[in-house]
Amino acid sequence: MEIVTLLLVILSLKSTDGAKILGIFPVPAPSHYILGSSLMRGLAEKGHDVTFISPFPEKNPPKNGTYTDVLLTGFWEMAEKRRQEMSLFEQENANSFLVMAFMNRMLLNLTEQTLNHTNVQKLIHSKAKFDVVIVEQFMNDALKAFASHFKAPLVLVSTIGANAWVNLIVGNPAPPSYVPALFFTVSNPMTFYERVINSLMYVFTEILNRVYVYPQHAKLVEKYFPEGTNLSYAASIVLLNSHPSTNQPVPYVPNMIDIGGYHVSPPKKLPQDLQKFLDSAKDGVIYFSMGSNLRSSHLPPDKRAALLKTFAKLKQKVLWKWEEEVLPGQPANVKLSKWFPQQDILAHPNLKLFITHGGLLSTTETIYHGVPVLAIPVFGDQKLNAQNIINNGYGLSLSYRELTEERLTEKLNKLLTDPTYGNNAKNRSKLFHDRLNSPMDTAAYWVDYVVRHKGAPHLKVAAVDLPLYQYFLVDVVVFLILASAILCYLFVKVVKMTCRKSVNQEKLKKN
Ligand SMILES: *[C@@H]1O[C@H](CO)[C@@H](O)[C@H](O)[C@H]1NC(C)=O
Ligand SMILES: *[C@@H]1O[C@H](CO)[C@@H](O)[C@H](O)[C@H]1NC(C)=O
Ligand SMILES: *[C@@H]1O[C@H](CO)[C@@H](O)[C@H](O)[C@H]1NC(C)=O
Ligand SMILES: *[C@@H]1O[C@H](CO)[C@@H](O)[C@H](O)[C@H]1NC(C)=O
Ligand SMILES: *[C@@H]1O[C@H](CO)[C@@H](O)[C@H](O)[C@H]1NC(C)=O
Repeated sequence: MEIVTLLLVILSLKSTDGAKILGIFPVPAPSHYILGSSLMRGLAEKGHDVTFISPFPEKNPPKNGTYTDVLLTGFWEMAEKRRQEMSLFEQENANSFLVMAFMNRMLLNLTEQTLNHTNVQKLIHSKAKFDVVIVEQFMNDALKAFASHFKAPLVLVSTIGANAWVNLIVGNPAPPSYVPALFFTVSNPMTFYERVINSLMYVFTEILNRVYVYPQHAKLVEKYFPEGTNLSYAASIVLLNSHPSTNQPVPYVPNMIDIGGYHVSPPKKLPQDLQKFLDSAKDGVIYFSMGSNLRSSHLPPDKRAALLKTFAKLKQKVLWKWEEEVLPGQPANVKLSKWFPQQDILAHPNLKLFITHGGLLSTTETIYHGVPVLAIPVFGDQKLNAQNIINNGYGLSLSYRELTEERLTEKLNKLLTDPTYGNNAKNRSKLFHDRLNSPMDTAAYWVDYVVRHKGAPHLKVAAVDLPLYQYFLVDVVVFLILASAILCYLFVKVVKMTCRKSVNQEKLKKN
C-alpha cells in the first residue's frame, strides 16, 4: 500500500517534471536577455522542455535539458544601430512622463516586429503545445496572447521588480504615499511635493495603459494571431527580479514571487591576467563599468577627462570597461577591456569599490558579493536603485550632471576611507543570502506549481475583477457623504423644530 502511494507521489511529481515551457523575452538588450536566458536555462536544467523566443542565440545550451531557440534575427542589429545614433547619456534629464510615453511607443513597435517575425509566425501557426507560457512584462502586452493561443497558463516575469504594469494586472496595492512610481526617484519618506508628483505618475500610468497601451496591443493580437485568440491579462503568477535586500520592500499579493538574484552564479576562476592584476593590487582595485547599454566610450570629453584625472591620482588600481581599442591618456594604474567577467571580479577579496550606472543586475551582483558602490545613474530605474543604495548605506551616488574631477575625488575619498560603507555592504550581502531556497529553485518551484495546479487560480485576489470605482470605494464614499449630509440635515431640522417648540412654549408661559 505504501509502495503504491510512493509510486503515485513519484508519478505525480514526474507529471510536471518535463513541462513544455515557452519563454518570450524580446527586448534586444543584454541585461534583459541575461535574465531571460538564466531563467530558461535553469528550467531546462531541471528537466523541462524549453522553447525560448529571444534576440540572441544560446551559445552553450544545457546538455541535460531540452532547449530550443526561436531566434529574433535582426533585432540586435536594429538595437545596435539605435545605440550608435543616440547617446543614452543625453536622456539623463528627460522628463519621466515623456520617457514613459516614448518607451511605450517604442516597445509597441518592437512587439509588432516580434509578432510579425518569420520565426515567431512559424511558431504561432505550428502544432506546438505548451503547458505554460512565460513572458517578460515590459510594455509588450500583446505577447500575453501566446498563453491564450496555446491554451496555457501565463507566467509574467518583471525584470525590474514590482511596478505599475504588473500591479494593475494582479490587483496589487501600491499606495503612492510610499511606493515610488516606475522610474521615479524619491527620498524616503517622500516629501509633500514628491507625493504629489508620485500620485500624478500613478494616475498617468493607469490612464496611459487603459486609453492607449491596452487597445493598441489588442489591435496587434487581432492582426497577428489566428481568429479566436484574445488578449487575456490574467496572469497566474508574477516572478519578480527583486528581493528586500536589493529593493525597497513593498506589499505583494499571494501570486507575486521574489526571485531576485537568480541570475547570479557562484564565482568562477578568473582569466590569468585579471587574476594577477587583482592578486597583486596591495591597495585594492576599483571596478568601473556603466553596464551593457551605456557605453563609457560615448561619454562626452569633459566627463571622460574627469574620470581619467581622478583615477590617475589613486593609489588603487582600476579596471575600466571601455568599448574601444584605445583610451587616449590612459593612466598606468588603469586596465581596460571591452568586457569583464563582472561577477567573478566582484568576488575577488581585493576589490574595494564598484563604480556603476546602478542597473538592477549590477546592483544585485554587488550585494551578492558585499561590495560597496558609487552609483552614477543615468536613466530608467538606475536613479531609484541609486537612492536605495544611499538609503541602505552601502554606497554613494553621484549624479551624471555633477560628474567632475572635484566631486568624483570627494566621493571616492569618502568611500575608500570610511569602513561603514563596506560593513553595510557585507550586512546587505548577508540579508541577500539568508533565504529558504535559492532564487532559481524558488522560480522553478513556482513554475511547476502553476502547471501542477492548472494556472493556480486560487491565488488570484478579488481586486482583479473589481471595477475601479469599487476598488477605490468611490461608491461607498459617495454613499457615506450623502448619508452623513442627510443625517446632518435631519438633525439640524429636528433641533430647529425643538427650539421653535420650546420658544413657543416659553411665549405661552409668559402670556
Ligand atoms: C542538469 O545539469 C545541471 C548543471 O550541470 C545540474 O545542476 C542539474 O541538476 C541537472 N539536472 C538534471 C535534471 O539532471
Ligand atoms: C518601427 O520603427 C522603425 C524605425 O523607427 C520603422 O522603420 C518601422 O516601420 C516601425 N515598425 C512598425 C511595425 O511600426
Ligand atoms: C511583416 O513582415 C513582412 C515580411 O516578413 C513585411 O513585408 C511587412 O512589412 C512586415 N509588416 C510590418 C508591419 O512590419
Ligand atoms: C478569452 O479566451 C478565453 C479562453 O479561450 C475565454 O475564457 C475568455 O472568456 C475570453 N475573453 C474574452 C474577453 O473574450
Ligand atoms: C553590520 O554588521 C556589523 C558586524 O556584524 C555590526 O556591528 C553592525 O551593527 C551591522 N550594521 C547594521 C547597519 O546592521
